[in-house]
Amino acid sequence: MNEVITIDGPSASGKTSVAKLVAQRLGIPYISSGLLYRAVALMCLLENVSAEEIEKRLPKHRLELQPTPTQNLVFLDGHEVSEALHSLEVDQVVSAVAVRPAIREYVNQVLRRIPPPFVVDGRDMGSTVFPQARYKFYLTATPEVRAQRRVPERGAAFDTVLSEIIRRDEADKHQSAPARDAIILDTSYLDLDGVVQRVLEHIHP
Ligand code: CDP
Repeated sequence: MNEVITIDGPSASGKTSVAKLVAQRLGIPYISSGLLYRAVALMCLLENVSAEEIEKRLPKHRLELQPTPTQNLVFLDGHEVSEALHSLEVDQVVSAVAVRPAIREYVNQVLRRIPPPFVVDGRDMGSTVFPQARYKFYLTATPEVRAQRRVPERGAAFDTVLSEIIRRDEADKHQSAPARDAIILDTSYLDLDGVVQRVLEHIHP
């Protein structure tokens, strides 16, 4: 198969875990687009500057995403930064980065250079970045279910994680509308295997 499969959805809807397993089952790479926004947010933290300022500095930096069968490695100016991308500090800065059109265009260009086939997850993969994709999915779940899933990953209290998710839903809402031709899956009452199964049922390689 030489297809692009898009899996979009809000924070902690399970899109990255689902994308990874679907890709494994199909024997193709997966790409997590959020990592690129997270890497730009990390640049703000490392250089102690605003999203507006980092936008001006982007041409001076080199950002690369390397898919491996089990994870995505992100390199910033040749240094691997993957481990530093999933902190609450990055969570707090990333939406301010992601609302800036020039930064979105920069990330989209990095993504469009990756040769298919692959499964890609994010917010606007099906609607904006890969509108021609043959298979598009949009995962949803209640904020409470999503917070519960994320608590062990962040090592923070449920209420802290829930309010961060609600804040980011609001901040990201413009780029988070499902593509009109996406298949919408409510994952609130499904486990990971259940969601992967539903996605694979729609794919005919
Ligand atoms: O699952 P979670 O939203 O926590 O993480 P993510 O997919 O790594 O995305 C992190 C942030 O990047 C989101 O909150 C959005 O602000 C932004 N993002 C975006 O705007 N567009 C995308 N395609 C992917 C991520």
